[in-house]
Amino acid sequence: MQDLIAAADALLPDMVALRRAIHAEPELGLFTPRTSARVREALVGLPLEWRDGPSTTGLVATLRGGANGRTVLLRGDMDALPMPEDTGLPFASQVEGVMHACGHDSHTAMLVGAARLLCGMREQLAGTVMFMFQPGEEGHHGARFMLADGLIDPLPDAAFALHVMPNAPHGRVGGRAGPLLASADMIEVTVRGKGGHASMPHDAVDPVPIACAIVTAFQTFVTREVPVADPAVVTIGRIQAGTTNNVIAETAELLGTIRTLSAHRRAAVQQGLRRVAEGIAAAHGARAEVRFTEGFPVTVCDARAVAFGRATVEALFPGAWQEMAQPVMGAEDFSYVLEKVPGAMFFLGVSEEGADWRQCCPLHSNRMVLDERVMARGAALHAALATRFLETGFAS
Ligand code: NI
Repeated sequence: MQDLIAAADALLPDMVALRRAIHAEPELGLFTPRTSARVREALVGLPLEWRDGPSTTGLVATLRGGANGRTVLLRGDMDALPMPEDTGLPFASQVEGVMHACGHDSHTAMLVGAARLLCGMREQLAGTVMFMFQPGEEGHHGARFMLADGLIDPLPDAAFALHVMPNAPHGRVGGRAGPLLASADMIEVTVRGKGGHASMPHDAVDPVPIACAIVTAFQTFVTREVPVADPAVVTIGRIQAGTTNNVIAETAELLGTIRTLSAHRRAAVQQGLRRVAEGIAAAHGARAEVRFTEGFPVTVCDARAVAFGRATVEALFPGAWQEMAQPVMGAEDFSYVLEKVPGAMFFLGVSEEGADWRQCCPLHSNRMVLDERVMARGAALHAALATRFLETGFAS
């Protein structure tokens, strides 16, 4: 284990250089050709079998160890966010309106580091490691496409991913069994009334107060019909209607997000919101059309995988493990992998050493920065999860 830490430390300058190069040239969505090319270039000449295409620029590199046993998958995401960067870093984004504000640049660099570490130990590996470099995590379902493309068939026996967390203690590794992150679906409601003159609302059907009533009724639905032990968050983030002060519009539009922590609650909330919106509109003589766009499912971590991850962290970095009391209501498309393969995602604290992590800018902030030295820990942890799983399975 100490050898692994030393080897990862030695790779840190290369990981930092790769991360900075990716950071300066961020790419969006399912197609990240420059980032994918950098990954291949960083791993050229190593004994990896590559699979790619056709729906994304995602890559799966497979390392076959000396013995023919279990298979474990390690995943890193590669895509950035459509937002400006205001960090002032010397390697800040050179692409206007695109920033690696979710740390996926560091995830890619850490996974490349882990691949190099594990290629160096190939003869001792008791099985096969798959390195999944996926684009399109930020709402584009990249993992779902790669699964559908058959890039990770036959399915591995376990899957792990790390996500950096800038507002968490330096080097801390957090996780929990069960739901870790929420499902995230979009709701759109069109309230259809009857347009008219603003001075004569009795001759029209004004969709604006009806839309407002639906927004507040949604919150009543959440507090009165959703059990606190299986919760939901419903936020209407946008209301749009009308053009000026003296016209009653024909329609009003609501747009929002729904977060839940179970498949059952996810379905029940969709059903309930539809009923509430349609019922309130009908009560006022209007109609509501309700549409849902399914986002990522709930990210559920296997209890054995979390216990195994905890033991691995404690063996490698004593004192670094932190059990998370609660899930986070964000969403993550590693959930698609965890629907099919037992495994876990862990959070890695990347605040500056000694800094007050509570003050650090969070993920998706235009000022998000991370302490790159923690990437050595991330690469070592990836590699240790793989070697230990291949040796013992979840029973460590
Ligand atoms: Ni992310």
